[in-house]
Amino acid sequence: MNKTILITGASSGIGKATAIYFAQRGWNVAATMRTPEREQELVKYPNIKLFRLDVTSEESIALAITDAIKAFGQVDVLLNNAGYGGVGVFEAATKEQIQQQFDTNVFGLMNTIRAILPYFRERRSGTIINITSVGGIITFPTYSVYHASKWAVEGFAEALQFELRPFNIRVKNIEPGAIKTDFYDRSQVLFAKEGLTDYNAYETITVANTQEAGANAPGPEVVAKAVWKAATDSSYRLRYPAGVQASILLFVRRILPFRLFRSMVRMVVEKGFKSN
Ligand SMILES: NC(=O)c1ccc[n+]([C@@H]2O[C@H](COP(=O)([O-])OP(=O)(O)OC[C@H]3O[C@@H](n4cnc5c(N)ncnc54)[C@H](OP(=O)(O)O)[C@@H]3O)[C@@H](O)[C@H]2O)c1
Repeated sequence: MNKTILITGASSGIGKATAIYFAQRGWNVAATMRTPEREQELVKYPNIKLFRLDVTSEESIALAITDAIKAFGQVDVLLNNAGYGGVGVFEAATKEQIQQQFDTNVFGLMNTIRAILPYFRERRSGTIINITSVGGIITFPTYSVYHASKWAVEGFAEALQFELRPFNIRVKNIEPGAIKTDFYDRSQVLFAKEGLTDYNAYETITVANTQEAGANAPGPEVVAKAVWKAATDSSYRLRYPAGVQASILLFVRRILPFRLFRSMVRMVVEKGFKSN
């Protein structure tokens, strides 16, 4: 029987590119998204089926998993991809914006894993792949809340893999650098607080510098390839950088003392900013 991958957030960017990449290689794909009725491209593939799934709704997660297993006979790989970034200085973020960031990137991912685990455990097989980020290992200014969510996923997955190994369930994190998707566009949530102007000069420059990285970044296929590598790798390897930029950044972070690495980040991201 052909293998099946269930993907969250398959309506655009990395999720959609991965759905197509796997479908073209003969896998069945349960492409889940918040609004499947809008999807026009994935419906053209006979081995892709759409399911409604909002990671903040446990009901929709349970239903999508059950329906995907029914439709394809099995699910072998879960790809936790749904997510977005809140951008702006921390002081400008509201409590609701911080909660929403964690509801999607952390609790949504945990709820999806919790929902599929009984099935994987009973089968004594399954692979859980999380799209984290180089931002789950290193940090940049104006992304503190997003980084907190991705660092949470990195730590969670690293702990989880121990207890799932006896059941032949693999946990894998994909760590992309900047990738050109809607992440830097319609998916972004901007933090802004009326009357808070002290950060303006700093924020304008650092946000522009990180947006530039997004604009010049490779497309999502580079991440789809890394997901493929992880999904077809029978080892218990946990982390897979996606793309050259991610590999270099993570390597440099590993070998440099934090002080030096931080200076490097400041040189790049704060370029053009003059503090008083
Ligand atoms: N692009 C990058 O530079 C980059 C780098 C590292 C990691 N990542 C990570 O890669 C993942 C995918 O992002 P992307 O770059 O492909 O951006 P994207 O094109 O904006 O895709 C984000 C996807 O997540 C979905 N989503 C958001 N909230 C959801 C929810 N509550 N339930 C279900 N789906 C939801 C969106 O669905 P809708 O269409 O309904 O909005 C969309 O399909 C994210 O986890 C992101 O943090 C991205």
